[in-house]
Amino acid sequence: MFSFKKNKRERILPKHIAIIMDGNGRWAKKRSLPRSAGHIAGAKTFKNIARYCNKIGLEYLTVYAFSTENWKRPKEEVENIMNLLRDYLKDAENFKDENIKVKFIGNLEPLAEDIKELIKKDEDGSKDATGLNLNIAINYGGRDEITNAVKKIVAEGISQSEITEQTISDRLYTKGQPDPDFIIRPSGEYRLSNYLIWQSAYAEYWFSDVLWPDFKPKHLEKAIDDYNNRNRRFGGV
Ligand code: FPP
Repeated sequence: MFSFKKNKRERILPKHIAIIMDGNGRWAKKRSLPRSAGHIAGAKTFKNIARYCNKIGLEYLTVYAFSTENWKRPKEEVENIMNLLRDYLKDAENFKDENIKVKFIGNLEPLAEDIKELIKKDEDGSKDATGLNLNIAINYGGRDEITNAVKKIVAEGISQSEITEQTISDRLYTKGQPDPDFIIRPSGEYRLSNYLIWQSAYAEYWFSDVLWPDFKPKHLEKAIDDYNNRNRRFGGV
């Protein structure tokens, strides 16, 4: 007798997982801590999960670190998230020693000059890495991204008859990358919040009540197991 039951080793990994790192504020509130403590814990989880994804051989991971709407938060909180980003960027071993190729997606223009320089340095420094492709979305908004793609198409003088879906995909920040096939949102919210709205047209979604700072590799493993039980038909039968 043999069994068709899949074991862990036989599971199919999505090619591209995208995560909305949500729930830092509530995690801190539950512990009577300032929101900044939630973001510090969230940044730790992010590093841990990125390393884990690299270890299991995932090809692409995209995380939502700061949206175009997040500027509306108190100045202190915005500064706090930017400082965590600075710390992460300065710690180049996060990608170099780990063989992780890092890319920042979003409108980076309004970011502080030192952050932009660090981003360039880390992207250049990790460009030959062959492990995980890690996209970090900063000042990212899906509608903003599509609006910019349309502006580029007009500026390039591309005629109406030449425009295909690929024309648009090629002008998004994720140009040349496979679309995310699996989107994970912890913290009990069931929204996409302007995240990868073009790219996730056929993605599978996975939600959980776990707050992002509590999110562990075991939760990711459960999500991947569930992904393996989904029947992806892409509009076919
Ligand atoms: C959402 O939780 C989280 C954010 C807006 C920031 C995410 C930032 C990090 C995980 C740390 C910094 C990232 C890097 C790349 C070093 P929330 O604050 O909206 O939580 P809430 O909904 O419970 O208030």
